[in-house]
Amino acid sequence: MNAVTELQTRALAAIEASENLQSLDDLRVRYLGKKGEITAQLKSLGSMEPEQRKAFGQAVNAARDALNQAIAARRSLLESQALENRLLSEKVDVSLPGRGEQRGGLHPVTMAMERAIGIFTKLGFDVATGPEVEDDHYNFEALNFPPHHPARAMHDTFYFGDGRLLRTHTSPVQIRVMEISKPPYRIIAPGKVFRSDSDQTHTPMFHQVEGLLVGEGVSMADLKGVLHTFVNAFFERSLAMRFRPSYFPFTEPSAEVDIGWEKGDGSEPGWLEILGCGMVHPNVLRGCDVDPEKYTGYAFGMGIERLAMLRYGVTDLRQFFENDLEFLRQFH
Ligand code: PHE
Repeated sequence: MNAVTELQTRALAAIEASENLQSLDDLRVRYLGKKGEITAQLKSLGSMEPEQRKAFGQAVNAARDALNQAIAARRSLLESQALENRLLSEKVDVSLPGRGEQRGGLHPVTMAMERAIGIFTKLGFDVATGPEVEDDHYNFEALNFPPHHPARAMHDTFYFGDGRLLRTHTSPVQIRVMEISKPPYRIIAPGKVFRSDSDQTHTPMFHQVEGLLVGEGVSMADLKGVLHTFVNAFFERSLAMRFRPSYFPFTEPSAEVDIGWEKGDGSEPGWLEILGCGMVHPNVLRGCDVDPEKYTGYAFGMGIERLAMLRYGVTDLRQFFENDLEFLRQFH
């Protein structure tokens, strides 16, 4: 009987002292489990005298009940402590100030590109696209560059060596549009172009917006009117503009367009070239099954980086491609 009392006291103290649910369960197994100490006492009942057995049995049962109760009480205490700790550690302080957000912005070349597209779309042009990897047919041949024409040399073409090349201008999109549909055409083709050329004013990749308008009775006066409307809208002021005779195999006559530009440093305004254009060459129309006796049209191609530099006052073209955040943030 003493052994049972001693066992109960020892077990109760251990239960009180247990610090977590795992050690509490270890105690339950140790005392009340199949091979536990209380269970062993109960098993010893069988070998006792009947009068002894009754009293001893009651004492062991009472001890078992006491331990069960103590374990249950301790468990619920430990459980609520564990919950409280969790709530404490997962607490969110909704009154803390926010971290502040970093605003992104569009790249100035993207802004200039979207601005140009916006103006031409309002003038009624649809947007057309073509692949950046082209072949000789679309980049040169169909644009009336004969095989050994010297104008090809001016294009500093990146060749893949298997007949494919990176387009050197957006003009191949003219051909792609005319090949798959019937006139009239009124499209612009914005996109990347590539030339093996790199210095202060040239990067191997840059952006152009091509324009093509073909219909009945289209004249060079229409071309000039549309371009002047465009530059005034793009720069939001009334600019002087002039056509200078030039040469492109795919237009005849051809012109380069300059705008009168004040640097803003008090010096005399100068002429700045911003694009190439002309009336679509009859050979180009014929090659696309468009009858040059019935249809005439104009085309133009402008460099977007040049326009972005002028509009945003950027003096070095290469800054557009350095991805310097200090520089880029100025345009947000
Ligand atoms: N494709 C020419 C260039 O990249 C520009 C151009 C386009 C000229 C359309 C005339 C007509 O220089």
